[in-house]
Amino acid sequence: MTRGRFITLEGGEGAGKTTQAVRLAAALETRGLSVLRTREPGGAPGAEVLRGILLDGGIDWSPRAETLLHFAARAEHVARTVQPALEAGTWVVCDRFYDSTMAYQGFGQGADRAFIAAQIGLLGFAPDLTLVLDVPDAVAAERTRRRGLAPDRYERENAGFHARVRDGFRRIAAAEPRRCVLVNAAGDIEIVHAAIMRAVSERL
Ligand code: TMP
Repeated sequence: MTRGRFITLEGGEGAGKTTQAVRLAAALETRGLSVLRTREPGGAPGAEVLRGILLDGGIDWSPRAETLLHFAARAEHVARTVQPALEAGTWVVCDRFYDSTMAYQGFGQGADRAFIAAQIGLLGFAPDLTLVLDVPDAVAAERTRRRGLAPDRYERENAGFHARVRDGFRRIAAAEPRRCVLVNAAGDIEIVHAAIMRAVSERL
């Protein structure tokens, strides 16, 4: 049995990750692959409980605690969902992974980035490919506004926060070119999907 591949989609609010994850998973399935689409925080029962606490809870966590809650959810998700699927030969398409902790908690909220990097190292598990969807702040804000959903704890943050998150993602992509591809996600759905499929074909 060949191990599946682990593809993550990253980016700020309104980058179109979820739409593109659905399109990517469908395209891989038409190639005859078994595909599992999942998300973070969440993707396993215990991790979904932590998602509720992190996104909707009223607690102002200390930076390290918030980082560790994301890594607790991630440990559960990896152990219960991602690893078993990969071992069964299934390709896993995941909406956010540890780069979101670096971008949101590290660059956005100012949590200790070396502490986050250490957690990433301890996890001992990395995506085969990370697609970092990048959109200008104004486009992202307009897409989020049009979605019209009640904002979660992170979406409620100010424009400065979201600009730092975007900058963080761009820096991560630049620092790890073997794993990451920065995708211009300002265009329409089909154009972005085509760019993603090119990256997947070239890298995997
Ligand atoms: P989303 O599913 O709509 O992308 O919402 C998840 C939110 O959680 C999003 O605002 C980003 C945030 N988040 C973090 O702050 N750190 C993390 O490690 C992850 C996975 C998500």
